Amino acid sequence: SPLHNLLTALPKCEHHVHLEGTLSPELLFELAAKNNIALPPVSSQASREVGADAVDPAFASPGALYARYAEFTSLDDFLHYYYIGFRVLLTASDFEALTYAYLRRAATGLSGPASAPRSSNVRHTEVFFDPQGHTPRGIPPSTIITGFHAAAARAERDFGITAQLIPCLLRHLPVSSAEETFTSLIDAGFFASGALAGLGLCSTELDRPPALYAPIFSRAAALGIRRTAHAGEEGPPGYVSAAVRELGVQRVDHGVRAAEEEGVMRGLREAGVLLTVCPLSNVALRGVHEVREVPVRVFLERGVKFSLNSDDPAYFGGYVQENYCAVEEAFGLSVGEWRTIARNAVEGSWCGEERKGVIL
Ligand code: ADE
Ligand code: ZN
Repeated sequence: SPLHNLLTALPKCEHHVHLEGTLSPELLFELAAKNNIALPPVSSQASREVGADAVDPAFASPGALYARYAEFTSLDDFLHYYYIGFRVLLTASDFEALTYAYLRRAATGLSGPASAPRSSNVRHTEVFFDPQGHTPRGIPPSTIITGFHAAAARAERDFGITAQLIPCLLRHLPVSSAEETFTSLIDAGFFASGALAGLGLCSTELDRPPALYAPIFSRAAALGIRRTAHAGEEGPPGYVSAAVRELGVQRVDHGVRAAEEEGVMRGLREAGVLLTVCPLSNVALRGVHEVREVPVRVFLERGVKFSLNSDDPAYFGGYVQENYCAVEEAFGLSVGEWRTIARNAVEGSWCGEERKGVIL
């Protein structure tokens, strides 16, 4: 596309990427070997619940895993593999290596030594992680936070990218587990110190309405903690308005199903909420057949702000740059529309006004 150079050069912000979703099959196998974790990994829980785990041929090689990832049928089908990947991550240095590889890729477009340089220019990123996916294996949030910030400091020196960390509470677990997790993060002082930049909510969406988490989110609001939540990915448009109304979020992650209801769109516009849209993720998890079904034009025309993001780039076949390019190929947007998208992404960031000014 003639706009390729513009898309590359635009200073970008990413707000929707899961740290564990940047774990490539290659790094998964490498860390499994280093940490002596059997592949397919069998936890005591998995061996009880999912006998099929032990014989899943997808774990024969990185190539076999990539092939399986290309055939996800739903959010929960993906989440099964995503949570298995967690089991190879043990030490602060594992999380540091994972974070640094992602930040390098986001800032420069470079991945491994074998791949051709490709620009990307993400200047600031806000990264999710799932504390409840690690604590049952004996890995406390402090291990992840330490590794993340060590990598972030190095990447800022090396590439000029800034990064913040946001814990997501997991909806497939009991609300009481989310409450305990949030309380322990507050008690450890991670929000007050700035080690954590806000609160998120993710995992299985269907039958887990946002209202279940309203007490936790109102505690966060009272403490001045910024809030975001996954909604309207698989769940109905009403979940998007419930996230805004009942959780008081400043952003909604995905939110694409909001386009099905004009009233929900109006609510987003009036609240000035930013949707963190992930086009390649929506295709990979079968929310849409193709990128051109993502309601990008509807959002632009109705004045609903959004950013473009990668979600779980190691699983869905693209980082931020590939998501921008896929949207351009599907919609052929104007230079002005692209500038609006990139500016809304900077302005919807949680990095502080001074940093925003530098990026813009
Ligand atoms: N966790 C990681 N990626 C996710 C997604 N796309 N939706 C919900 N939970 C997730
Ligand atoms: Zn997500």
